[in-house]
Amino acid sequence: MSEVTTDPRRAAAVIAAGGVVAIPTETVYGLAADAENEPAVRRVFEIKGRPSDHPLIVHLARAEQVHDGWVAAFPENAALLAETCWPGPLTLLVPAGPRVHPWVTGGRTTVGIRVPAHPLATALLETFGGGVAAPSANRFGRVSPTSAAHVAADLGDDVDLILDGGECPVGVESTIVDCTVSPAQVLRPGAITEEQIGALLGSVAAASGPSRAAGMLASHYAPRCSVILVDEHAEAEATVQQLAAQGHAVAILDAKTDPVTAARTLYASLRTADERGMQYLIAVLPPAAGIGHALRDRLTKAAAPRS
Ligand code: TXA
Ligand code: MG
Repeated sequence: MSEVTTDPRRAAAVIAAGGVVAIPTETVYGLAADAENEPAVRRVFEIKGRPSDHPLIVHLARAEQVHDGWVAAFPENAALLAETCWPGPLTLLVPAGPRVHPWVTGGRTTVGIRVPAHPLATALLETFGGGVAAPSANRFGRVSPTSAAHVAADLGDDVDLILDGGECPVGVESTIVDCTVSPAQVLRPGAITEEQIGALLGSVAAASGPSRAAGMLASHYAPRCSVILVDEHAEAEATVQQLAAQGHAVAILDAKTDPVTAARTLYASLRTADERGMQYLIAVLPPAAGIGHALRDRLTKAAAPRS
């Protein structure tokens, strides 16, 4: 098993030396490397099993750092969102600066940048000083990790170090906003909601259908069990009874009663359903409002047919 630490300075040293470290953020754990170290970033893609043209987010300690070569321009809508929402669960897509290399973005001219709000991530990024490229620390197509134990279960000893920051308080990946178009467009819904962004910018294009960031597949965030989506609790109960009567192992995931808690525990619930040998998970969807957009997006992907 990989070494586990709670010391962000040790994690920063491993990243500075070209290592790959699983790091906690407020959303999910990331698989982190020095964004300017090509072999280290290539190892991130290998460990994840992810196609190398599928871009990574660059994480910085503070918003001002975007001007240290990470962006070619920082549009007004991006500046407004950064000022209000960073540090926080928001990734801004902006024109890439000279320190953003093709091995991070798959050769795109835009880069996704985020200043995370997690004390250990902040301490690590401050100590390291540069940009840290990190996708979610799961194998490609699997459920994102929201605890150090999830990372260890998924990636085993493939990473050099796991920085254990406990359970991620938000639980779903950051909201991604494309700030290179006007009005700005939400590509992946998250805890910073469409409603909040619309109020700040005056207008925003909503995510249409499941999230559309580059390389996102219909089937993603997938547990092994089959996920069935319903809108009402009564419908869930009826479906459970029907499947249980046929001898299937089936559980309910209630994302409607308390959507914020449901987001925080979503990925752990999907993992638990698999660990307990469930064949079906009946998910009760929240309304499409606030963090409900993100839950509906992730659950729709978890329920999509697998390739
Ligand atoms: O909350 C999060 O965002 C977590 C934590 C670790 O920060 N990270 C994360 O990374 O979810 P990842 O790689 O699993 O998802 C990022 C998504 C990918 O679908 C990627 O294609 C998209 O953002 N993306 C990144 N840079 C992009 C770019 N320049 N253009 C279009 N899409 C981009
Ligand atoms: Mg991911």
